Amino acid sequence: MKIIKAKDYKDMSRKAANIISAQVIMKPNAVLGLATGSTPIGIYEQLIDWFNKGDIDFSEVTTINLDEYRGLDKEHNQSYWYFMHTNFFDKINIKEENINVPNGSNPDEKEACEEYENIIHNAGGIDLQLLGIGNDGHIGFNEPGAAFELATHCVDLTESTIEANKRFFLSKEDVPKQAYTMGIKSIMQARKVLMVVNGKGKANIVKQAFFGPVTPEVPASILQMHPDFTLVGDEEALSEID
Ligand code: F6R
Repeated sequence: MKIIKAKDYKDMSRKAANIISAQVIMKPNAVLGLATGSTPIGIYEQLIDWFNKGDIDFSEVTTINLDEYRGLDKEHNQSYWYFMHTNFFDKINIKEENINVPNGSNPDEKEACEEYENIIHNAGGIDLQLLGIGNDGHIGFNEPGAAFELATHCVDLTESTIEANKRFFLSKEDVPKQAYTMGIKSIMQARKVLMVVNGKGKANIVKQAFFGPVTPEVPASILQMHPDFTLVGDEEALSEID
């Protein structure tokens, strides 16, 4: 495990974007596993900026996103497909056919999850997986207690996640109750894992996940066992591990 300390959110974003950029320069047809959420937005902005300056080319890159709400059409403005397009894909030269997000509008969960694992397999596996971390240690939608051996699967969202997400929807009833997510097994198979974390609110979970026992109760803790795991955090997020 390698820990890289950044000054603040902007510095964290630049350092992580540099690692992703190096991956794409070293392997132009790299397979990038990507994440949504608020933490990676600065990374995407930085990569767009370097793309506009001609420093990075995504024309041969394949992306495989971590997760998607089940039951939400991809054009819905809260889908992760929509998030990734508006925050990143629409602003770079990636080919639409090289973009992969779990198919939230497929109600057949077995088919949707198998199809996604096949996509990962057929792409030759993930070269670099970008992750954020939830306050309870979740990665993707793998909440505390999730089995480490699961590949892509369907999860029931916890009451607290539904409660937290309702601000983005017209009403609580409109919040999807399930999601398709890459499992811990799929994440651990990525050749390189890069996690970004910022803010005081994440300091305690960072300490638990990376300086505490490896346990399904803190899903991210399994990353201690990954052979090529890098954590880029700002000073606040890393403040409890000094
Ligand atoms: C995003 C994802 C989530 C987030 C996590 C942290 O695709 O799977 O696990 O990475 O909830 O979210 P933020 O970055 O908003 O704190």
